[in-house]
Amino acid sequence: MGTYKIAVLPGDGIGPEVTTQALRVLERVGARFGHTFQTTQALVGAAAIEAEGDAISDATMALCQESDAILFGAVGGVSRYEGPNSKVQPERALFRLRKELELFANLRPVRPFKALLNASTLKPSILEGTDLLVVRELTGGIYFGKPSEIRQTPHGLEAIDTLLYSEGEIERIVRTAFELARGRTKKKVTSVDKANVLSSSRLWRRVAERVAADYPDITFEHLLVDACAMHLIRRPASFDVIVTENMFGDILTDEASMLAGSMGMLPSASLGTRQTAHGTFGLYEPIHGSAPDIAGQNKANPIASILSLAMLLRHSLSLEAEAQAVERAVEQVIDAGYRTEDLQEAGTTIVGTEEMGRLIAEAVTATSS
Ligand code: NAD
Ligand code: IPM
Ligand code: MN
Repeated sequence: MGTYKIAVLPGDGIGPEVTTQALRVLERVGARFGHTFQTTQALVGAAAIEAEGDAISDATMALCQESDAILFGAVGGVSRYEGPNSKVQPERALFRLRKELELFANLRPVRPFKALLNASTLKPSILEGTDLLVVRELTGGIYFGKPSEIRQTPHGLEAIDTLLYSEGEIERIVRTAFELARGRTKKKVTSVDKANVLSSSRLWRRVAERVAADYPDITFEHLLVDACAMHLIRRPASFDVIVTENMFGDILTDEASMLAGSMGMLPSASLGTRQTAHGTFGLYEPIHGSAPDIAGQNKANPIASILSLAMLLRHSLSLEAEAQAVERAVEQVIDAGYRTEDLQEAGTTIVGTEEMGRLIAEAVTATSS
């Protein structure tokens, strides 16, 4: 029994829709295991720009700092702030949270549920045995390098982005990947870069090799990012831990989501080194965005958000049995044949966001461990 503080930032588009379902599941976890979860909601993204003048306010940052963990929905996709001339971007909320809270390690597990092997665009025989973890560097690289601007020259406009990594930034993320690999079955790390082109990747490779020498028990390999994109859908089951820089990790995980059947299935945890009384402080969010094409229609798959909640229980609150209860509840509902539209296949029952959330919440209570 415990009392835990969670900051809840639903955001824009389907963010609030899926987060509501995760909170419904959290309530059932509290009731079943006798915990008190103190949740406090705040605005982020376009919703916060409208009401508070910025994508995330100082007060919301303070709320996050004082919490044990953050449950995040999605931001962006609101047309007023989309154009190249928009002064404020809803996505700024994410960058500020990640950078100021030093959440440099973004864990994105990809473990297709057995009952969903047919829902993927890939053949079940290729997916069989897939259980991989992408460790994406989250606070460096081209997302944060300066200068980053569009500027005037005598010959017209030009634009610059800067891809910078320090040895220290590379070392800590690669070490995180090796430590995680030690707790897994295949015990393998694939470091993904573009060392045939980029200086930052050549440094990445050098540091990765140095770190790998400390882990003789872990199989280690390098892969160029373009080849990795291909191998991910050619032989996904051969991967274990993939460690890579910020933008490569972003792109490869949208691709990898299709191994699990849908963008609506992949959760994530963003962690740093700060420990609270209960575990490692972190931010938890689906890898998908605000999905403006289906927002407000009760169509979004809430499972990525619910599985993100399971990661929150595991990593930030050290509630392993509770995390597993949530994961089992998701699996039971999938095994019973319920699907949201994104996973449509013959012989299944299509339900909306709300109904999927209700079914999973009920399964948490019904499951005995
Ligand atoms: P998206 O992830 O929002 O959507 C991509 C596709 O996947 C869409 O067809 C969408 O309908 C589908 N999809 C996504 N989540 C789904 C779910 N839970 N259930 C069913 N289908 C789902 O990516 P996008 O359309 O390229 O981006 C829209 C906006 O979201 C952009 O402004 C982008 O910056 C933002 N975004 C935010 C985050 C975040 O807040 N962490 C992440 C990615 C994108
Ligand atoms: C993600 C998103 C963000 C990113 C966007 C919204 C800035 O795509 O979390 O995967 O690129 O990091
Ligand atoms: Mn992304």
